[in-house]
Amino acid sequence: MITDREPLLTADEVGILVNAAATAPSMHNTQPWRFEVCGRVVDVILDEERSLPAEDRAGRMILIGLGAATFNLRVAAAMLGYETTFATNPDPDRPEIVTRVFLGGRQSPMPPLGSLYGELRRRHTYRGPLLAIDIPQQVLSLISTAARTEGSDLFWLEPSSTRELIHILREADELDLHDEDRLTERGRWIGGDRSEDGVPERALGPLPARPAAFRNLSAGFDDQSRSTGVFEIEPRIAVLSTATDRPSEWIRAGMALQHALLTATSYDLAASFLNQALEYVDLRSRVQDLVGQTARPQMVIRIGYPAMAGSATPRRPWQQTLAE
Ligand SMILES: Cc1cc2nc3c(=O)[nH]c(=O)nc-3n(C[C@H](O)[C@H](O)[C@H](O)COP(=O)(O)O)c2cc1C
Repeated sequence: MITDREPLLTADEVGILVNAAATAPSMHNTQPWRFEVCGRVVDVILDEERSLPAEDRAGRMILIGLGAATFNLRVAAAMLGYETTFATNPDPDRPEIVTRVFLGGRQSPMPPLGSLYGELRRRHTYRGPLLAIDIPQQVLSLISTAARTEGSDLFWLEPSSTRELIHILREADELDLHDEDRLTERGRWIGGDRSEDGVPERALGPLPARPAAFRNLSAGFDDQSRSTGVFEIEPRIAVLSTATDRPSEWIRAGMALQHALLTATSYDLAASFLNQALEYVDLRSRVQDLVGQTARPQMVIRIGYPAMAGSATPRRPWQQTLAE
């Protein structure tokens, strides 16, 4: 209930919230979202036209991106001093509304999530080599706790499981190369010089000079003229998992992903994703075997200290994503 003592959001506040939400990661940077602001309620809406039917048939990845955008909204609202609550799939008559964020009263000092606001624009998917520096155990625990706070688990793979995962990733890469529908879809979003969405070539990172745990998003349709780099032999890999595999869990996984990534960014860590195996049912179940029979893998995250500067991906002007 909005009272006279709780004024509506100002235009500046709406801009801050929507801009922050749009810095979220999304598969191929499709930015599959729109936002509707009514009073002190912000709805996050799925934009079907930005779906990826060949690579994300179940719509799992798109919901992870929308969950991440929702988490960013909560962070920005906290920075502005607002407590938030949220609901997933709040309106049965409008299934396209994925989450609804309610802004409550203003708090001073700001709610704790607000401290992550400064990380929103520092976080980028980093696809270059990582330094051979161990991540302190305490930092790994903080990243895991961030994911747990949002209801997901992070499994840090042991070296033997990492080696097994790398085999599985190579099988996925091979399948990808022979799937025309996937290659065509990727060609629409990946490579070249992009100003509003998609992944420009400059953000793809160098190609590995020797075999590495890597995902070359432009494999199979690009001319591979990129420079090469020497990648770490055994990266630190975490698998983000949920207890069940329902769409509402995918949204929560997106929130957990973003909470974990922003926490990692605050310790100068960078991450990229090795999700190719999760896009094939049988390979996904082999990744599941690595983390335990009851865990449903949602994201494979490669994480460490970056050895070179990364490159940001573009975003659409935020006004374009705001419903009238
Ligand atoms: C659900 C999901 C799946 C993704 N899968 C991959 C992937 O397999 N490989 C990859 O290089 N990046 C992947 N990404 C990263 C996106 O390409 C990236 O978030 C997007 O280009 C925006 O760039 P930014 O993260 O630097 O803001 C994924 C992101 C999300 C949210």
